[in-house]
Amino acid sequence: MVTERWYIILEASELPPDRPLGVTRLGERLVLWRHGGAVHATSDRCPHRGASLAMGKVQGGCVACPFHGFEFDGDGKCTRIPEYGANRKPPAAMRTRGYPLREAHGFLWLWWGVVPDTLPEIPWFAELDSSYVWHGFSDDWDTHYTRAVENQLDFTHLPFVHHNSIGRGLPQTLGVITESEGDRLKISYDPATYDAKGFFVELIAPNLWRNRLAPGIWAVAAFVPVEGNKTRLYLRFYQNHLRLPLFGWLMCYVANVVNRRILRQDKDVVLEQLPREVTHDIREVLVASDAPIAIWRRWLRTNGKMNVEEEAE
Ligand code: FES
Ligand SMILES: [Fe+2]
Repeated sequence: MVTERWYIILEASELPPDRPLGVTRLGERLVLWRHGGAVHATSDRCPHRGASLAMGKVQGGCVACPFHGFEFDGDGKCTRIPEYGANRKPPAAMRTRGYPLREAHGFLWLWWGVVPDTLPEIPWFAELDSSYVWHGFSDDWDTHYTRAVENQLDFTHLPFVHHNSIGRGLPQTLGVITESEGDRLKISYDPATYDAKGFFVELIAPNLWRNRLAPGIWAVAAFVPVEGNKTRLYLRFYQNHLRLPLFGWLMCYVANVVNRRILRQDKDVVLEQLPREVTHDIREVLVASDAPIAIWRRWLRTNGKMNVEEEAE
């Protein structure tokens, strides 16, 4: 996994207040909890004798282990050992691993890697602001998240995989243009080969993506690494044409009925791709339209460098 990045790990609405939630993300068993407007994540394993903290309780801002009641804050530090009473402090070694966790844009974001003094801002798409109404759904895929991301960087599959839906009538000979900066990768059709009327996709690596379908209409996806070859996709439909809450939401809901069908077409193909994980030494023969995939693979290989110049640093 590329380190020192924010990863989307959950829909924010999936974490209830004052109740610990156990999830596996990025190959780790984590406990998440929400209290007083703040969200926290630590390793799920109690450093005392290995119980699952997710089976415990939220006490104030801390999670309390179900086995002997030890309490841990969001940094993973033990703040209370009940048998010690009030006069004896927990030893410093009694700690589990804490992970910075933030809530933004309806997602929970986990910081993966060394924690700097100042964490970078949560990345997002500036246009997708509060004027938009959205509806989302999730889907679990038995493949590595790298394959799920690559599928959404691939324009050439549209007239094949989606020949009877969004790819109907699309020419098979199309050029793509890729632009990359920092963790962002934008892909559009070469206007010399096809007038796509503003259709493009953009990835914010590692796991956030959007697709401009029409003015004020976007598909947004998060590809959440669970463990090994397991990925959870969060798909959202955003629009800012119908802003009345119920009608706007209903429009997004109906659009997602179609999106589920389209996603099913992708899933059928992608789940059979081998190997399931895109590793550094993957042996595949790329062609011209795979340029975005080559850039993404370089980003994976270099721990987060999109551009050739960055790689040379
Ligand atoms: S195992 Fe968690 S407090 Fe003992
Ligand atoms: Fe697709």
